[in-house]
Amino acid sequence: MHTEISRLRQLDKQNVTLKGWLYGKRSGGKIIFLLVRDGTGLCQCVVEAVNERLFKAAESAGQESSLTISGTVRLDERAPGGAELAVTELSVSQAVQDYPITRKAHGVDFLMEHRHLWLRSPRQMAILRIRHAIIRAARQFFDERGFTLIDTPILSPGAAEGAGTLFPVDYFGEKVFLAQTGQLYVEAAAMAFGKVYCFGPTFRAEKSKTRRHLTEFWMIEPEVAYADFKDVQELAEEFISYIVKAVLDGHAADLRTLERNVDALKKIAPPFPRLTYSEAIELLRSPTVHEKLLKQLDEDRAKLNGWIAELAKLEAEKEKSRQGWQQDKLTQQIQERREDIRDLENSVANRPEHLEHAKTFAWGDDFGGDEETIISQQFDKPVLITEYPKKIKAFYMKQSPANPDVVLNMDVLAPEGYGEIIGGSQREDDLQALEKRMAEAGMNPAPYQWYLDLRRYGSVPHGGFGLGIERTVAWICGLKHIRETIPFPRLMGRIYP
Ligand code: 4AD
Ligand code: MG
Repeated sequence: MHTEISRLRQLDKQNVTLKGWLYGKRSGGKIIFLLVRDGTGLCQCVVEAVNERLFKAAESAGQESSLTISGTVRLDERAPGGAELAVTELSVSQAVQDYPITRKAHGVDFLMEHRHLWLRSPRQMAILRIRHAIIRAARQFFDERGFTLIDTPILSPGAAEGAGTLFPVDYFGEKVFLAQTGQLYVEAAAMAFGKVYCFGPTFRAEKSKTRRHLTEFWMIEPEVAYADFKDVQELAEEFISYIVKAVLDGHAADLRTLERNVDALKKIAPPFPRLTYSEAIELLRSPTVHEKLLKQLDEDRAKLNGWIAELAKLEAEKEKSRQGWQQDKLTQQIQERREDIRDLENSVANRPEHLEHAKTFAWGDDFGGDEETIISQQFDKPVLITEYPKKIKAFYMKQSPANPDVVLNMDVLAPEGYGEIIGGSQREDDLQALEKRMAEAGMNPAPYQWYLDLRRYGSVPHGGFGLGIERTVAWICGLKHIRETIPFPRLMGRIYP
């Protein structure tokens, strides 16, 4: 049996066998350091020249060669993972010479084309491990509270979140669609089980190439019978806090790999600030907020100049540098700085227009990414924006008894400018009111008769929400773009690999 690298710390002075891949290599004359990865960690394996056969094998193996390697464990605080291996045997299963992703810098397009290989990098692995932790915590939260998991169909006869983002599928000559949400079906199940949730892939033909949109994303959607709007809001607050805590508790090392500021995450606990849509508009238009944003724009301009100066310094340093490893590291830093500069340049250039637009934002318009960013930046916890205009929201949302122009819905915006991660509402439980909403929305009621039955037979107040897994991963990991939050992202303009 071979040993997993993550266990080496407990095996000082013992002889073990590792199975993995060559992640990197460094040579110091009569000694070669092989950096081996196996999915559980990295281990520095030391091969000495005295054993000529091993030394030759080590010399000839390139990055990502698959190998089996035996030796004696030596605890060493300086080594990655805290232990290294003094190699006594080495067998290369496949020697690789031309692995496309080197330690040098690559552009995002190149990495996306090689996503199947890019997954092997420590940073991508940290993100996907955190994704796993988020999904596990999300399911555990509902399981612990007595919710029943209900799997909802992916092939669906109609729209639930607007006809504009449907992917059509030919179903034996009939036109059906990929599910945008499981919600209508979990509503049915809630009337059977009381508390339910679904978790699965959902599809939106979003014709927007933003850092927040995928065409295929995963959503977890709880639905609760006999719940009112307040219950739904509280459930969302507790749910988000639970997930963040699970990641903080279980994934400190991964968050360090991502250089995530964990202090920002430690603040996430209920209650969250709540604003109505109308109050959010006041905030957007407020002169004090505007002043603050202008000041921030100045600060960002200064930051940009600082980065540009830093880039020049890094480039000069690279010119002078003689060591391969150091050069690679500098190339990587330069590439990252260039990307940061490009992003901030764009943001600084577009911001004056966004700020002007925010000042004159009209009641009835929907918030775009820019408005969401401005609003969420005013708080250090997720913020609940409630009671949007009926006209811009889905047909199933319950009209507010206090104001017929708005619905009892919420969008939860993540802090640090991440925007919406949850959309939810109390549902319209009155048959006539729901039929009226559907007619106003120009919907053909025929495919929804089953859904209307839920209002005919034992209708009760109920509600729920949907949390987008990828946007949550982006926020918790502190990523700039959603494309790294899912193993194989589907974006407008990307369906490979
Ligand atoms: O706000 P949405 O559209 O709500 C629903 O689908 C409801 N049926 C949920 C419910 O009440 N059961 O989507 C919910 C969440 C968003 O807040 C966002 O996190 C995510 O799904 N989402 C997307 N994530 C990535 N790419 C997209 N194109 C997304 N569209 C929505
Ligand atoms: Mg939404």
